[in-house]
Amino acid sequence: MTDRYCVFGNPIKHSKSPLIHGEFARQTQQPMTYTAVLAPEDGFTDAWRAFVAGGGRGANVTVPFKGDAFALCDTLSYRAKRAQAVNTLIVGGNGRTYGDTTDGIGLVRDLAYHRVPLAGKRVLVLGAGGAVRGILEPLLAEKPSEVVVANRTVAKAEQLAEAFVDLGRIYGGGFASVKGPFDVVINGTSASLSGELPPLPETLFGEGAWAYDMMYGAEPTVFLQWAGPRGAKLLDGLGMLVEQAAESFFAWRNVRPETASVRTLLRQSLN
Ligand code: ATR
Repeated sequence: MTDRYCVFGNPIKHSKSPLIHGEFARQTQQPMTYTAVLAPEDGFTDAWRAFVAGGGRGANVTVPFKGDAFALCDTLSYRAKRAQAVNTLIVGGNGRTYGDTTDGIGLVRDLAYHRVPLAGKRVLVLGAGGAVRGILEPLLAEKPSEVVVANRTVAKAEQLAEAFVDLGRIYGGGFASVKGPFDVVINGTSASLSGELPPLPETLFGEGAWAYDMMYGAEPTVFLQWAGPRGAKLLDGLGMLVEQAAESFFAWRNVRPETASVRTLLRQSLN
């Protein structure tokens, strides 16, 4: 019996998730398929219900449907509630839909993979949109000394920090008010997409600091190109993508895939 999984998005053509999950399934010999499904902008819920009616067991959800997925779930994980977003859907035994988000834990696991310490460290997060909201709970669970959220629209950073203040030391503000040095700087803005750079102070990175861009591509992002000459060690979001996929896979199959070979495969697929 082959179990069906997929990723919903719009657009979805360039999604790497089928490659990643196909590799996980092969590696762990799971009897499953994983495809990419283009859902209409206003038709996510119908697309999900049709998938389940056809025997679908679970799915990943990407842009722009993470909020829609959150809204349709019968039960939510704690981290999904905090993120107000769902990237992993699971059909329960009773036909109920369980929602989780693995993006934030994917980031934390990728940092651990690269031996980037978080406990007791000063962390700067750039951006205050959905992508950043998705990582704050798992990030704060690692007990950094503080997390500063900086955003172009200052009020959004302040509101986001306020929403997580029960979980640790977290502050929100604008780029101009950011005071380094930080140990880890994570770019969660979508500025990289348009090749832009948030206006950042020169003295951002402490000794041995890391710069992490949640985006990735064949070439380093503008943020990483800026951070390199300023002494930071660089990481892009490719590993986060693989690790969040591994967490979803584990949630569905109760088997933990190995990620190192899939990272290599994915990196090769970018060229
Ligand atoms: P996502 O789901 O990727 O987080 P989003 O919710 O639209 O998408 O959020 C995009 C984030 O990137 C926001 O923090 C946005 O800043 P604003 O809240 O001020 O709009 C940030 N962003 C996008 N383009 C940017 C740019 N050119 N410079 C700085 N920040 C930018």
